[in-house]
Amino acid sequence: MKAKITGTGSCVPPKIVTNDDLSKMVDTNDAWIRERTGIQERRVSDEGTATTDLAVIAAERALAAAGTSPEELDLILFCTCSPDMLFPSSGCILQSKLKAVNAACFDLSDACAGFNYGLSVASGLVEAGRYKKVLLVGADTLTKYLDWTDRGTCILFGDGAGAAVLTATEKEEGVLANLLRAEGHLGHHLTMPGGGSRDPEARNGRFIKMNGKEVFKFAVRALETSVRDILKLSGKEVSDIDLLIPHQANLRIIEHVSKKMGLSKEKVYVNLHKYGNTSAASIPIALDEARTEGRLKSGDLLVLSGFGAGLTYGANIIKWSI
Ligand code: ACO
Repeated sequence: MKAKITGTGSCVPPKIVTNDDLSKMVDTNDAWIRERTGIQERRVSDEGTATTDLAVIAAERALAAAGTSPEELDLILFCTCSPDMLFPSSGCILQSKLKAVNAACFDLSDACAGFNYGLSVASGLVEAGRYKKVLLVGADTLTKYLDWTDRGTCILFGDGAGAAVLTATEKEEGVLANLLRAEGHLGHHLTMPGGGSRDPEARNGRFIKMNGKEVFKFAVRALETSVRDILKLSGKEVSDIDLLIPHQANLRIIEHVSKKMGLSKEKVYVNLHKYGNTSAASIPIALDEARTEGRLKSGDLLVLSGFGAGLTYGANIIKWSI
């Protein structure tokens, strides 16, 4: 049994915040942000919008694309590090909104590597024969956790949601292999310390704290290692890749690794100029846009690679068919 992606969907909030807008809030400018990150603008949700409000729209779009009804879902796996609340899980909140009454639900928190972790777990459960129709969601609203006076972080992130419907298939297609790694000893380089049981009143702040230089070095290594190792695991070469969708954090990370690996621009999907880093949503939003733009055809070899807080990273290799 394999798990194949039969539908995708995405949703971003309507409000656009440009680099020029940010330059009125912190000491930065459009030229610096474009040159150092590739980001031109990002979407920011309003006060009344929580993560599942974006996720439900992405999920409905994915279900429609897959021709699947909510009642057919037997599992909802929700990848997020910005849940609506500590509990119930965002998966359960989404289940209620969708009326997906037959689905088991749980959340998975691995920040920007979340969707790749989630895809590995979900495809593993499908391969084991435990579930047949899974809704996998990656959604985050990290702009709610930004210190808008910290120019090292507030320029990077945006909000959004992406979703994919996974369906069991007996054919040799869909998710072929996955790879998950974690380097917890580096976790202190990227944290959101407040609000957890160590600091429930968030006395240490409820904002993202990042050592950008260290995370950058890790990200470059993680992206290259994950792609090379997943190719090795599945007996493929770099030249076999039809499309790589890397986590959309920083264009310099993506370009550096693509160049080193000999991957041409046409084979690497980039949309971070529009959305910034949307954390767990970045890969499923890019996947949905790649699919709707006709960048994927049946038989294509697709590699997804994500990295983020933890520090964690992971990749999935997919034989696309829809
Ligand atoms: N505007 C203008 N100048 C700035 C800004 C800004 N927004 N930010 C930093 N600078 C300045 C610095 O103060 C420094 O000035 P100095 O030389 O006078 O001290 C100079 O620019 C260079 O700063 P660096 O920190 O070296 O800039 P760098 O090129 O490393 O870019 C960045 C910083 C964009 C944060 C980069 O390190 C990065 O992208 N890191 C990785 C982030 C990431 O990928 N996170 C992914 C995981 S996220 C998750 O999982 C939730």
